[in-house]
Amino acid sequence: MTFDVDHVLAEATTEELAALVCGSGSWHTTGIPRLGVPPVRLADGPHGLRVGEDLDYSEPSTCFPTAVGLGSSWNPALLKRVGEALGREATALGVDVVLGPGLNIKRSPLCGRNFEYLSEDPFVSGTLAAALVYGMQSVGVGGCLKHFAANNQETDRMRVDAVVAERALREIYLAGFQRAVGASQPWMVMCSYNRLNGTLVSQNPWLLTDVLRGDWDYRGVVVSDWGAVYDRIAALIAGLDLEMPQADGREAVVAAAVESGELSREVLELAAERLLSLTHKAVTAVRPTGVIGHHDLAREAALESMVLLRNDGVLPLAPGARVALVGEFARTPRYQGSGSSKVNPVELDRLLDTLASRREVTFAPGFLLSGDLDDDLIDEAVTAAELADVVVACLGLPDAEETEGSDRTHMRIPDNQRALLASLSETGKPVVVVLSNGAAVEVAGWTEETSALIEAWLGGEAGALALAQVLTGEAEPSGRLTETLGVRLEDYPSTLMFPGETGQVQYGEGVFMGYRGFDAMEREVAYPFGFGLGYTTFRYDALKLVETGSVVTRDLRVAASVTLTNTGQRAGAEVVQVYVRNAAASVPRPVRELRGFTKVWLEPGESRTVTVALGIDAFAFWSTPHERFVVESGDYAIEAGSHSRDLPVAGGLRLDVPSLPTPLYDESTIAEWFADTDAMDALQARVLARTGERFELGEEMYAVVAGQPLRRFAQFPGGPLTVADVDAVLAEYGRPV
Ligand code: BGC
Repeated sequence: MTFDVDHVLAEATTEELAALVCGSGSWHTTGIPRLGVPPVRLADGPHGLRVGEDLDYSEPSTCFPTAVGLGSSWNPALLKRVGEALGREATALGVDVVLGPGLNIKRSPLCGRNFEYLSEDPFVSGTLAAALVYGMQSVGVGGCLKHFAANNQETDRMRVDAVVAERALREIYLAGFQRAVGASQPWMVMCSYNRLNGTLVSQNPWLLTDVLRGDWDYRGVVVSDWGAVYDRIAALIAGLDLEMPQADGREAVVAAAVESGELSREVLELAAERLLSLTHKAVTAVRPTGVIGHHDLAREAALESMVLLRNDGVLPLAPGARVALVGEFARTPRYQGSGSSKVNPVELDRLLDTLASRREVTFAPGFLLSGDLDDDLIDEAVTAAELADVVVACLGLPDAEETEGSDRTHMRIPDNQRALLASLSETGKPVVVVLSNGAAVEVAGWTEETSALIEAWLGGEAGALALAQVLTGEAEPSGRLTETLGVRLEDYPSTLMFPGETGQVQYGEGVFMGYRGFDAMEREVAYPFGFGLGYTTFRYDALKLVETGSVVTRDLRVAASVTLTNTGQRAGAEVVQVYVRNAAASVPRPVRELRGFTKVWLEPGESRTVTVALGIDAFAFWSTPHERFVVESGDYAIEAGSHSRDLPVAGGLRLDVPSLPTPLYDESTIAEWFADTDAMDALQARVLARTGERFELGEEMYAVVAGQPLRRFAQFPGGPLTVADVDAVLAEYGRPV
């Protein structure tokens, strides 16, 4: 069954179009049956499908590692395959659009939804989100980027005003969305609940229209987060096409607004057209047969998600090792987060079973999930440890601490788990800690008590199988951190301002967020951004740079190549990370920024030349006065290595770009005027013609007044310059204010 979009637009009544832009129930759009337009079905995800009318029940579907894990894979090809699998499962469940991925930036480790987000870095987030969407859409199911934008906390999420400077937005909080929109043209983008710089995002024309559609050329549908709309008419005018879920009487409100002239029919038609195009895509998509059940892919994804943070050689566990398996999470796995992304898994592995089939295991729960201290449980675990060769302790965060709707107040693991770990380490037996958590926890106080530490994140339904394979060395842990693990919460650049007060949160750290802030402040960290070990080692040899194109023609490309050698005894993966730094910029810039990466698998002894391509955006920053990304002349360092604080090979690049005068306006300073030779020549010509002298400033005077707005300087009596001169030149050379 199909329909013609233009025909429907021409034939539909205002009421029918109004109904189209308002949802039907919780999970469907409203079709126009009379004209052959069916409803489209939406479902939560994206770590698995949540198909069901209420939060308590959903149809079984594969539960993949949550985004924190998928992000840690640094593997777009894997994300694409997970996307395809999600698409196949969506097809089996009759779903047309999956409401994910979430790619908000992890501004603070406390955000309750960090488990649903990919990284603190927009390059990683955008690249991986694009791959996931690409995978879904390649099998005919739509993806939906969410939550657009600056929804970086759960506290007061439906009202809070995120106050963010445009540069931080463009370089950090919007940049991942921009990358993913450009690379995957998602069928949908979901707007967030919060306000951004004073305006509800659902009603924010700057964000939803000027930036998303104007600057980025987005052509799909913008859907509201569930309940994000306050004023439906303002939202339509701002560019919000579909309101979800159905809100009582909204269609009538929209139709009446068209009738009264408050809303032009063209605006309604534009939104309706986008919905009709999406529906048409859904109806005509060629979809492979739907399948539920991708346990093996979930296992593979979990392997690539796991980050080995520390290992004194105890891992992989020796073949005959007797293992004390301690911790309730070995029996009651913590494998996903709470809230709208919660999946009803098809099957569920437990480490208690998967490890016991590989090694001799004695289990002791060790702690209560409630957080209460129980000395008997600790004593039992210590006894098990004393009789074993090695302890594997499964620690982490309880369910309630990581959920949509609330943030954490600290980043420690529960005290009863700390007490257990202290007692276990007193036995003198090597202790391997496996963490199950979706957001960063403080490890600095106790990582030294461990022989090995694996950050297993929330690994999905097959996480425990992957973990047993990693512990025994059947498989490699190949994840890398996509967020910095700070020593203390107090060290994070956003901490003082998170989660804000009286309805407002200030993003005062600007672009200096995550590793960009830690590095600028030269702050010690527990484990740096990009870090992760494997069971083998790698060597980097000299970096080679090949430059083509130019900044002026906007086609600059830099191919950065390194020779990578696996110097260990086992096959393994390395994530080659490339960072760019621009030491002498005209604005404060981060010490280094990730601009490219690639994950490579090498056999023992194997060497390979690995090339990472950098585009012009790798060198750019957002210039607020120019209202665009610019590249400045200067020396750029390009560094490559295994994480943000281990970059053994580097090269330099000089870029020469004609200088771009700062557009002048009525408050431009004397220094800014002097930098604009055309405007200055025009000003001098005027002054000279009128007074017979030029406007000159001695060196000392210039130092005093260079920072003053020229127009106000002209107000002072006695000089050759007048306000009228300044205004006349501004009229020709200035930018509109
Ligand atoms: C969440 C979204 C989700 C939607 C539908 C909202 O509360 O923020 O991520 O897709 O509900 O369940």
